[in-house]
Amino acid sequence: MSANEMWGGRFAAGPAAVMQEINASIDVDRRFAAEDIRGSKAHAAMLADQGIISEADRDAILDGLDRVAAEIAEGRFAFKAELEDIHMNVEARLKELIGESAGRLHTARSRNDQVATDFRLWLRGALDGLDAAMADLQRALIDRAEAHADVLMPGYTHLQAAQPVTFGHHLLAYVEMVGRDRGRMADCRKRLNECPLGAAALAGTSFPIDREATARALGFDRPTANSMDSVAARDFALEFLAAASIHAVHLSRLAEEIVIWMSEPFGFVTLSDAFTTGSSIMPQKKNPDAAELVRAKPGRILGSFVALATVMKGLPMTYGKDMQEDKEPVFDAADNLLLATAAMAGMIDDLSPRPEAMRRALEKGFPTATDLADWLVRVLGLPFREAHHVTGALVRAAEEAGVDLAALDLPTMQAVESRITEDVYSVLTPEASAASRTSLGGTAPANVRAAAAAARKRFPETASGGRKGSAR
Ligand code: ARG
Repeated sequence: MSANEMWGGRFAAGPAAVMQEINASIDVDRRFAAEDIRGSKAHAAMLADQGIISEADRDAILDGLDRVAAEIAEGRFAFKAELEDIHMNVEARLKELIGESAGRLHTARSRNDQVATDFRLWLRGALDGLDAAMADLQRALIDRAEAHADVLMPGYTHLQAAQPVTFGHHLLAYVEMVGRDRGRMADCRKRLNECPLGAAALAGTSFPIDREATARALGFDRPTANSMDSVAARDFALEFLAAASIHAVHLSRLAEEIVIWMSEPFGFVTLSDAFTTGSSIMPQKKNPDAAELVRAKPGRILGSFVALATVMKGLPMTYGKDMQEDKEPVFDAADNLLLATAAMAGMIDDLSPRPEAMRRALEKGFPTATDLADWLVRVLGLPFREAHHVTGALVRAAEEAGVDLAALDLPTMQAVESRITEDVYSVLTPEASAASRTSLGGTAPANVRAAAAAARKRFPETASGGRKGSAR
């Protein structure tokens, strides 16, 4: 095999086959061909504006790059592993199309700043797509919260019935989590939006380039400040993977709740045929596979973070070929997170709550015990600790009688605390309990309706007010 036409000047012979195999990244980085060409066009235009290349060379380069872009877009481009990566594949084809002018494109540039630029451009676009999907999930949750603002269900701690809440309130909890997830992605986008182009290999260049111009042309806020950092940094990718991991973890919690709610002992919600699958042996089954897969996604997404953090750990300045391993984890995490977010929005739009089953669950586990203790404090003036103790004794009495607190008769209550009156029953129903939780951020149905309306304002992209259906 002959030496590489891009960098083979000092090489007499070509690489071993296994060297080429381990070295080539084209099967992965062809994914940002469009960004690579966009970056090259901005670079060529700047070189001509600065008088570094001629206008004729620039015109030939820009025209040739458009033709390469068209070939790639139309699937007519022959990607070659012997040309290693997307950068050299594009440049080699450009040379075939326009001849010697192509060789001037790489003036004052290196693949090191080129790949860093391409990767940031690609991730910026992916973040925008992801944000739209995350906003759509919030929209689905808010729609549902409004529709079920007064559907009562047990709120859990330790997965033990704790206090009555509304289904709407429960869903709005996830609107907050996803809102912070979007904030983390927005922070990541803001920090990554600096342009490394012009850092060249690592030290900058002696050519009179205009880095502000290329940064502007590519929609970056500014050029990066340090040439070595420009080619060495991948914390923008790590930051994305960290934010992606957190969002995936949040999605998995909601997914797990859907699995629990769908399970036969709970039966709190059903999903339609659109989001379930059957069993090939058990004809009665309707399985929440989409929820289970969303529950599983943190495995690969957290794995991607660990993979890239491990690649970067201990790498000396500046670029090392190690860093070529940065793309697969980011692509995989971005694809799977987008899919999981869209699938979750689809499930939230699809699911039907079963209020009777939720209400029945409130008859077990004494979820209004706190309301009883609060009544003892408010009406009888007991210190909360003592009220807690008295309520514990009343719960034991109800347990022994096999009834819930609302059905425990007054004489039995008075045997535990003689000053209890008939009025206590006014706080022992789940309806009364939930309606009384009017503190800021509380679960009272009126609060939930106001909170849903406020959420639509705080997250303006959700303000559709109606179902758009699944984002995909
Ligand atoms: N394919 C390479 C990567 O993804 C491009 C940068 C190569 N730079 C170099 N000095 N060999 O990292």
